[in-house]
Order: sequence, then structure tokens, then C-alpha cells
Amino acid sequence: MIYLDANATTPLLPEVLDAMLPWLKEGFHNPNASYQGAKEARKAIEEARGKVAALIGAQPDEIVFTGGGTESTNAALKWLARLIGRKSGRVITSAIEHSAVLKPCETFADVGYALTRVGVDGGGRLLMEDFEAACDTAKEGGGFASIMWANNETGVIQPVEEACAMARERGLAFHTDAIQTVGKIPVDVREVPVDYLSLSAHKFHGPKGVGALYIRSGARFEPLLRGGGQEKDRRSGTENTAGIVGLGKAAELAMERLSKKETPASLRNAFEAKVVGEVSGVSVNGELLHRLPGTSHLSFTGCEAAGLLILLDDLGVACSAGSACMTGKQQPSHVQKAMGFSDAKAKSSLRFGFSCLTTMEEAMAAAESVKRAVEKLRRVQGGSTGPVMVYSP
Ligand SMILES: Cc1ncc(COP(=O)(O)O)c(C=O)c1O
Repeated sequence: MIYLDANATTPLLPEVLDAMLPWLKEGFHNPNASYQGAKEARKAIEEARGKVAALIGAQPDEIVFTGGGTESTNAALKWLARLIGRKSGRVITSAIEHSAVLKPCETFADVGYALTRVGVDGGGRLLMEDFEAACDTAKEGGGFASIMWANNETGVIQPVEEACAMARERGLAFHTDAIQTVGKIPVDVREVPVDYLSLSAHKFHGPKGVGALYIRSGARFEPLLRGGGQEKDRRSGTENTAGIVGLGKAAELAMERLSKKETPASLRNAFEAKVVGEVSGVSVNGELLHRLPGTSHLSFTGCEAAGLLILLDDLGVACSAGSACMTGKQQPSHVQKAMGFSDAKAKSSLRFGFSCLTTMEEAMAAAESVKRAVEKLRRVQGGSTGPVMVYSP
């Protein structure tokens, strides 16, 4: 099986598993206790905190470990909603956020908050004039903004630095869902001074069910989960030592890859060049200049993505239609709708995610399988095609 669904999740790197195993076996102690084993677990957690902080240019104290990306976004957004209050508070987000941001924002709207979902252009980038106008409106009564750093479906990187500056200039707190971004491209909270940032281990070869919320030093925060007061009373619950150590190791390895500028971009580009060069009627979606290095979002004229997925699975290629969370639903995703895709285009789109474990042989074999699957489906469906395109990423 050639795994090309790295935006949905990534496999653990062997070094990450090795780092975690002792904490699932003999290192089981509660890190809040006072005996030797507990102290060692505490030390391992604090080392991991340092590594996660280093990956995003933060101070260790600014990192709060959570039970994953969804918990991090919910903790930040639900706190911010409480902070601004529903009477005059405006919540600003984008129309292409992951449901881990959109759903909480919709629940705020249900109870009386003013909610603005700023649109994107055809390339999937935030409409900055609209974002600025929303920030101007919020300035009057207070509010906050949450804009994702990169989109999980298209891989399009958003103008977060600009958006953060616009929000902060107007006194609005700024959260970013950087769950698809951290570990894949450089993220530095000293250069982009967001107030809150969510990240998740399993998107960069760490374990599932563990993530972190970055809270800028001095930014106010009250926890989503209350109880034993762990994480300096910012996230209660006995710490998941093995998971946290795995996140720390994954962060350390991601930092090494980033410092060597090792990304799957060349594989992704070779894959796209072959598909686009050899298959007619293919479009590469998302603004090419601002894409995550491992994401390819393609539409195949006249081919239903659902059919392609089955054929590709038979040919040993794992990828997905739209966002992983939408798989199974035949509706075009909200991201594709926001980008102005026709229903037909949206339903004929596939997402391929490459990681540091993907090889060039796999990328080329997958491109060949895509070609076979598209040709087969078009034969069966009698679908129309378009011209073969010249591709330059
Ligand atoms: C952009 C984005 N936000 C949030 C999440 C949710 O993260 P987690 O699976 O760690 O809860 C995902 C995962 O698919 C994502 O891609």
C-alpha cells in the first residue's frame, strides 16, 4: 500500500516509538507524585515541553499539553468566547477552517455571538480586505479572530502574519490552527506573534491523541478542563507521559528536517508533473506559490472522486476525497465551496498527502496508478476529458 494521506495522519517514526515505549512500560508513574519514578516522568515531560517550544520559537512555559488538536482549538476558542462575552463580542474566522474551529464558532453564533466567516479567493487564500473590514467592526465591541495557518484539504498557506497583525492592531486576540503546519514548514511565534496556537502530534509523525496549545506569555487564559490542576492549572488530567514524550521526539525530528530543508516537495511536484503531463483534464487546485510542501489537491474532469478512491484502493494507493473528515459524505466540502468550485469539480477532487517517509518510487508508482484509475473510470463512465496541461509548480 502506498500511503498518500499524510494530511489525515502520519505514521509514527521508529525513533518516536522507541522514545515512547519506556513510558508505557516501567515509566508508568504519575508524574505528579514525589518518588523517583514519578520525578523521572516529570523530567521527561519537561524535556518534551522544551522541544515543542523550540520547534515554534516559544518559551517552554507557553506550551500546554492537551489531548490533541481538537482539544487545543476548543480550549482556546471557548476561553476567548468567554473572555469577550456574547453581548457585543464578534468572532472572526475563515470559511475554510477545519470543523475543530468552525463547529465551536457555530455554537457561539447559536448563543448570540456575531460570527463572521471570511471568504477565500479561487486559490484558497483569505480575502484580506474582508478580514480587515471584519476586524474594524469587531474593534468597536471587542472580539477575537481565529485563522488557520494552512488548510488541511488544499494545503494552501494563509497570510497569517498579516492577519495576526491586523487583528492585534485593533486589540483583538488572535488564535491560529497550525495543526497542518507545525513540523512541515517553519513556524515561529516570535516572527508571527499570535496569542494562541494549536498543534497536534499525529500530523508530524507523533502519536494520536496528544497535542499542545501555545499561550503567549501574558495572554489571559482559563482552562477548558478543570480538575487536579496539572499543566499549571491550564489543563487538568494526569499527563499522558508516553504521548507527550512522543510529541517531543516528533518535534525534535521535525526541527532537524526543517533545518536541513528536507521536505516532500520534490516528490509532490514530480507526482503532479507526471499526473498532469500524462492524464488529460486534470487541474491542480490551490494557489501554487503558497502550498504546504506535501499536499496535492487535484480535480479530474468527468471522474467521480468516490469511484477513483475505490479504484486507487484496489491499485494499492491510499488517498482521500476532500478532507478526511468529510469522507463518506457525498457533499462538496465547505472548502471547495468557498473556493467557488462547481459541484462537479468538487466531486471529482482528490487529496494526496506526502510525508518524509514517502519515496520517489512510491510517488511515481502512485502517479501511474492515478493515470490507470482515471482512464478506467472514464472508459466506464464515458466521461469527458480536457487537454493535457503543461505543468510548472
Ligand atoms: C487543520 C486541522 N485542524 C484540526 C484538526 C484536528 O486535530 P486532531 O485530529 O489532533 O484532533 C485537524 C486534523 O485533521 C486538522 O487538519
